[in-house]
Amino acid sequence: MSIKKRIITARPFVKWAGGKGNLLQKLEALLPTNFDDLQNVTYIEPFVGGGAMLFHMLQRYKSIRRAVINDINPDLIRCYQLIARTPEILIEHLKVLENKYCGVDNLARKELFYAYRDQYNSEGIHPDKRAALFIFLNHTCFNGLYRVNTSGKFNVPYGRYKRPVICNEELIMADYRLLNSIELVIRQPGDYKLVGRNLSRNHLNFVYLDPPYRPLSGSSNFKTYSNSPFGDEQQKELKLFCDRLSMRNCQVMLSNSDSKEQNDVCYFEKLYEGYNFSRVLAPRFINANPEKRNELEEIVIRNYNC
Ligand SMILES: C[S@@+](CC[C@H](N)C(=O)[O-])C[C@H]1O[C@@H](n2cnc3c(N)ncnc32)[C@H](O)[C@@H]1O
Repeated sequence: MSIKKRIITARPFVKWAGGKGNLLQKLEALLPTNFDDLQNVTYIEPFVGGGAMLFHMLQRYKSIRRAVINDINPDLIRCYQLIARTPEILIEHLKVLENKYCGVDNLARKELFYAYRDQYNSEGIHPDKRAALFIFLNHTCFNGLYRVNTSGKFNVPYGRYKRPVICNEELIMADYRLLNSIELVIRQPGDYKLVGRNLSRNHLNFVYLDPPYRPLSGSSNFKTYSNSPFGDEQQKELKLFCDRLSMRNCQVMLSNSDSKEQNDVCYFEKLYEGYNFSRVLAPRFINANPEKRNELEEIVIRNYNC
């Protein structure tokens, strides 16, 4: 009898607020129509997060020969670096955490979770261990959220999962293989604008931007992913950045919430005047209140016609 080996496809190794896993087909429908025929594309994702779109695009389009990814979160970037270069180090750390955590009862697990959370928040911990703790916390904390307090300390409580997978070795190796099938630039964690330094001079640059959402109504100092705010000032700067990318012949696609101003005018249609707009329905799963896990419209802004 032959044993069939399950083939794991590359996909995000963390659950991430605003992750695009449920929107991939809809976003794909909004790519340039000739995307399949292009050659030597550089795919750039300056707010990569869990990378749902990155993993999808690299698997689906063999025309992508080079990718540039960036995020402001240093531990997330460290995970990408380890997965792309030395996955065995990450796997080793994760196995230790998994064995300890899954080998004890619920009460002890909760204590262990808070002990690891304190360790993660402490100074001087080795970046590889921090990266593993980051994945551990993501898989065991409440709802897989990432939230920091005003001092930048991760403060999401314990998640009570019965059988959390902490070390998904097959997935990490699938991600490793995919990330190594192209030339990959992982920028040092920092502001999205820095990807401007990594544009290809000779080939098409396709830039997908998925910044922190603007709240559905009204402006705010929105802080979910890091201690740096992403409010209306940052949304306006981002629009200017998209203009600069357009001037450098990049094809740009950006998604955000379909946020309204007080007079019910669409905030992004006004800000991105002259660009093309589409709406897609997006299920929202990361919400503490199950009643509020419904579908919302998101806006997709492009500098090209489909
Ligand atoms: C909506 S999420 C992206 C989600 C991603 N598309 C996915 O599928 O998981 C926005 C990301 O932007 C990052 N971020 C926030 N401010 C940033 C900045 N100024 N520069 C770069 N990244 C930033 C956050 O850490 C977060 O990962």
